[in-house]
Amino acid sequence: MTHDARPALPYRPRRLRRTPALRALVSETRVDARELVLPAFVKEDLTEPAPIMSMPGVVQHSLDSLRREAVRVAEAGLGGLMLFGVPLERDAVGSGATDPDGILNVATAAVKAEVGDAVVVMTDVCLDEFTDHGHCGVLRADATVDNDATLDLYARMAVLQAERGADVVALSGMMDGQVEAVREALDDAGLTDTAVLAYAAKYASALYGPFRDAVESTLTGDRRTYQMDPANRREAQREVALDVVEGADIVMVKPASLYLDVLADVAAGSDVPVAAYQVSGELAMVEAAAAIGWIDRERTIAESLTSIKRAGADIIATYWALEAVENPQVRE
Ligand code: PBG
Repeated sequence: MTHDARPALPYRPRRLRRTPALRALVSETRVDARELVLPAFVKEDLTEPAPIMSMPGVVQHSLDSLRREAVRVAEAGLGGLMLFGVPLERDAVGSGATDPDGILNVATAAVKAEVGDAVVVMTDVCLDEFTDHGHCGVLRADATVDNDATLDLYARMAVLQAERGADVVALSGMMDGQVEAVREALDDAGLTDTAVLAYAAKYASALYGPFRDAVESTLTGDRRTYQMDPANRREAQREVALDVVEGADIVMVKPASLYLDVLADVAAGSDVPVAAYQVSGELAMVEAAAAIGWIDRERTIAESLTSIKRAGADIIATYWALEAVENPQVRE
């Protein structure tokens, strides 16, 4: 403390908390629309958006409804839109991901045609939505994930997405060397302007359950051989350092709320922008508790976003991105 000479009582911290205007004046943390990214799901051949049971308020989009959502994102002044594809057919190698006419590639082009550079479009580079076993990579005969064979597929995916207009390719698979493999492939294809967001510290979390409903994942088992152990804090620094050396333009910590210590560490040490992903389970817990009247939904959403920002996130991916901007009860 620098003010240790000052007697405690005459200084009254409550003075600056007396009115909303005073509190706003001295607020240390503000969440701005421009740093919020909306994740969105688009499903092949849907004609109407379909609700996702475990993610109240979130839908699987049709191409049309996704285009309209992108316009809303632009009008709200959000920082970006992050696209996930849900294919009709899955196979062992996730062919839909590297099919030029695969749902995510088609959707990326459609969104870009609609909103151009008004919205930063991010695309998910990962195989789990496209494989019939649900893992983020291809499998060896013994059913373990083959890291290096997967890298080639990520590289092809990323190039296709970038060609369709993705501004940022978002690498969520947690394969070792994925950033370098994708950066090299993009550069070799002349796509030097496409940025790479690395899910650098992505934990093997129970909080992805609702997302797996959203993408109709067939995963049995877990991802603990490639995603990080929730017990490990220091290891996140190492993952981030590797990804930055490999060429990541933005690094991400995921999930957000239960990993604010990790986020704060990464934010303190990083010289590239730091994103945090408030994942599907974070949404589901709040929506469920609010639905039965146990917590105040809007206040909890606002507090969660403020806390993620306070911990050091420059960018927040959140399913509540539009709501945070459009709903005055969340905004205040
Ligand atoms: C993998 C991916 C996942 C999420 C984002 N990208 C699922 C997983 O790793 O199992 C989860 C996001 C969320 O829960 O909201 N492509």
